[in-house]
Amino acid sequence: GGHAGHDMGATAQAALPEGEALRALPLLANEAGRPGLFKARLTAEPATARFGADKDTPILAYNGTSPGPLIEAYEGDRVEITFANRIEGEPSTIHWHGMPVPADQDGNPMDPVAAGADRVYAFDLPEGSAGSYWYHPHPHGRTAEQVYRGLAGAFVVKAKADPVPAAYGDTALMFTDLRLAADGSMPDNTMIDMMNGRVGDHVLVNGQKNPKLAVAAGAKRRLRLYNATNARFLRLAFANASMTVIGSDGGLLEAPVAADELLLSPAERVELVVAFDRPGTATLTTLRYDRGWMGPGRPTDAGLTLLTVGVSETPAEAMPPLPERLRPIAPLGAPAVSRRLVLTESMTMNAASMGMDFLINGKAFDMGRVDFVARAGDIELWEIVNQADMDHPFHIHGTQFQVVERERDGNVAKPPYLAWKDTVNVARRETVRLLTRQERPGARMYHCHILEHEQLGMMGIVDVR
Ligand code: C2O
Ligand code: CU
Repeated sequence: GGHAGHDMGATAQAALPEGEALRALPLLANEAGRPGLFKARLTAEPATARFGADKDTPILAYNGTSPGPLIEAYEGDRVEITFANRIEGEPSTIHWHGMPVPADQDGNPMDPVAAGADRVYAFDLPEGSAGSYWYHPHPHGRTAEQVYRGLAGAFVVKAKADPVPAAYGDTALMFTDLRLAADGSMPDNTMIDMMNGRVGDHVLVNGQKNPKLAVAAGAKRRLRLYNATNARFLRLAFANASMTVIGSDGGLLEAPVAADELLLSPAERVELVVAFDRPGTATLTTLRYDRGWMGPGRPTDAGLTLLTVGVSETPAEAMPPLPERLRPIAPLGAPAVSRRLVLTESMTMNAASMGMDFLINGKAFDMGRVDFVARAGDIELWEIVNQADMDHPFHIHGTQFQVVERERDGNVAKPPYLAWKDTVNVARRETVRLLTRQERPGARMYHCHILEHEQLGMMGIVDVR
């Protein structure tokens, strides 16, 4: 696997060890001691990591690890997590990305936790909410940096009755992005990073470069993939193994869908069943994807080997088949309201400086402004029109949505299957139409999940009443 090299700034390509055994994400222990409650503590704090060579890298970690500990709870559970912000001099929050939590538990930028302070996030996981979510900080103006310095973790809500055979296991693979300077530190974002979104030197899986997983021939594995990078567009394919998509951001699909490749844009998740039928080596690699801009010499996220799977000759125990139907998904019906959100970029440049705004309907984010009001329970059609020259993965807080149509160059396409999503890539010059419904009152964010763009203004507030 090659590096995604870049020629901007004074960073050196640190060699990272590859081929170590894949580490499972550490599990966040449930301190509740009774069923139906998940209770724990998450502390955001400075830590150090050894990525390669002999240098320590200062990072930010949850409970000392990056990615943070894996949270596993069941639908129907009550969750009470005490968040301790021990990042010196910086506010933070925990945003429960994709989860249907009340607005005042959502960890949005209006609700910061000061440095040194604690707060409890408490919410219920509704029946039917099983899925692959994640958590990350969301403080005003600091989200991009706190995430690339290490703060992100996976949150799996398990179904009480899961149709996917337990024999497939359940493995979370969280992708993060890493850039290292020669002294082992993580360089700050440059103006180019702010414009493109930060793309570093390495894509890590559970904090490791190209780790190795061992399976027996004929094994099927359930893999949950999380794109927790700020700005990597991961067009993924498995060589020497076959991939079936079984779930999206908000849980299982109605039926499994075989896939040769898939695009996982920043903040998206996918659940796969991968069949390793041929002994030898199977690899999860990235294909070229043109997401616009990046400039000459910039990486295209192509040709990375993210994971190497050694498939032994010894046959696996017989695997039960994947059911033909996974769960029903009710399509959202006719919308009561239609909205149009236009994404644009605007650049100001002169000899002394270069500035960039990322706008929605001509406006940059303003914490004190409600962009529109929605009624709880209403189905709304959102038309996201990307008039910019790069892709913008679009995310809505507080709920899941269903993509109904995509349009580009006059070609209209329906998605191949129904799915619950909370983040959808809107390619440059593309329009995505989606149906959404907010069930709970309060202010909700919607924004581009290239976190540098979120910081530069591509975010708004819908007030749900
Ligand atoms: Cu994952 Cu508003 O974010
Ligand atoms: Cu963007």
